[in-house]
Amino acid sequence: MKKMRAAVVGYGGMGGWHVEHLLKSDVAELAGIYDIKEERSELAKSRGIYAYPSYESLLQDPTVELITVAIPNDSHEEVVIAALNAGKNVICEKPVALSLESLDRMIAAAEKNGVRFSTHQNRRWDVDYLAMKQIHDSGELGKVLNIESRVHGSRGIPSDWRGEKEHGGGMLYDWGIHLIDQMLMVFGWDVKSVYCLCDHITNQEVDDGFRLDIHFQSGQRATIELGTYNFIAMPRFYMRAEKGSALITDWREETQVVKCKHWHENDVLPVKTAAGLTKTMAPRDSVTTDTYRVPRPASDVHDYYRHFIKAIRENGEQDVTYEQMRTDLKVILAAFRSAETGLPVEL
Ligand SMILES: NC(=O)c1ccc[n+]([C@@H]2O[C@H](COP(=O)([O-])OP(=O)(O)OC[C@H]3O[C@@H](n4cnc5c(N)ncnc54)[C@H](O)[C@@H]3O)[C@@H](O)[C@H]2O)c1
Repeated sequence: MKKMRAAVVGYGGMGGWHVEHLLKSDVAELAGIYDIKEERSELAKSRGIYAYPSYESLLQDPTVELITVAIPNDSHEEVVIAALNAGKNVICEKPVALSLESLDRMIAAAEKNGVRFSTHQNRRWDVDYLAMKQIHDSGELGKVLNIESRVHGSRGIPSDWRGEKEHGGGMLYDWGIHLIDQMLMVFGWDVKSVYCLCDHITNQEVDDGFRLDIHFQSGQRATIELGTYNFIAMPRFYMRAEKGSALITDWREETQVVKCKHWHENDVLPVKTAAGLTKTMAPRDSVTTDTYRVPRPASDVHDYYRHFIKAIRENGEQDVTYEQMRTDLKVILAAFRSAETGLPVEL
């Protein structure tokens, strides 16, 4: 099938990532980039990439069918709507918008112009998340009670626009939108309430970390913790289910599973703690549990582009639906309200 001509707006960190992927793509062909900064255009040209002299000139290029927008969070709407009104299909980086009204204006522009619009939820292809989803969906540990999802670093928030409120900075918008989307993909989109605490350790203007509890209508729970001041990282994922537990220490590692074979135990050996003995907290043995590892699932993040282009060509369902985009954003906005008031917020 003929490759779809695509261009990237914003040739910064993530724009560079999109360019690399489009240059190798089996479904798309890079037409060029547009960046508001001259030096970024010059850099692109020095790498043999065509740089459009203006945004208008890109919008007027009839060969371009798809535009990927990778610019700071507060400037998405205007650039996205101009592209949609020019009849282009659009992928916008996350968080797609900073308010529901803004997101709805973009969705309305896509529908009015009969083109497709999506946001780049590339972390749906993270193998650690896929391993958790696989265990949840297979039912091998019975009903999953809760999942804890953590990403810990120790370098504070980046000192660019991500540290500034007016540009939609902060870690909830930066990482939260991915980690929330992953948990909603596992547990479903029926969120009951959220409770969130934000960190302000290295930055007073925006959150430089957070702990977010999501309660689902099903009774299941997700805890998402993002830290930029953690010099010892806690495990990436921890799952509790009716018939066992699963753990991923680091995104490079396989999943460790302990599955309960028999609930009842005979002759439990007590464990000595400094202040006394405990049978309740003594570890189980291989008579009542199986311990095994789940290999890392296969994943190719370019499927994001493959599926979106297929959806455009065949008028099919896109991976990241408008309703999912709205729910991800609703959870973030409710998390901000919860952090401000110190109270849980119903969705
Ligand atoms: N999905 C992911 O994994 C992921 C990872 C990093 C960043 N992002 C997202 O990508 C977007 C960009 O982040 P980044 O890290 O690349 O930022 P960046 O600061 O590295 O790059 C932004 C680029 O956009 C250019 N720019 C700004 N306004 C513009 C405009 N109106 N028109 C054209 N160019 C413009 C800047 O000159 C700069 O080169 C953000 O929305 C961010 O949240 C996503």
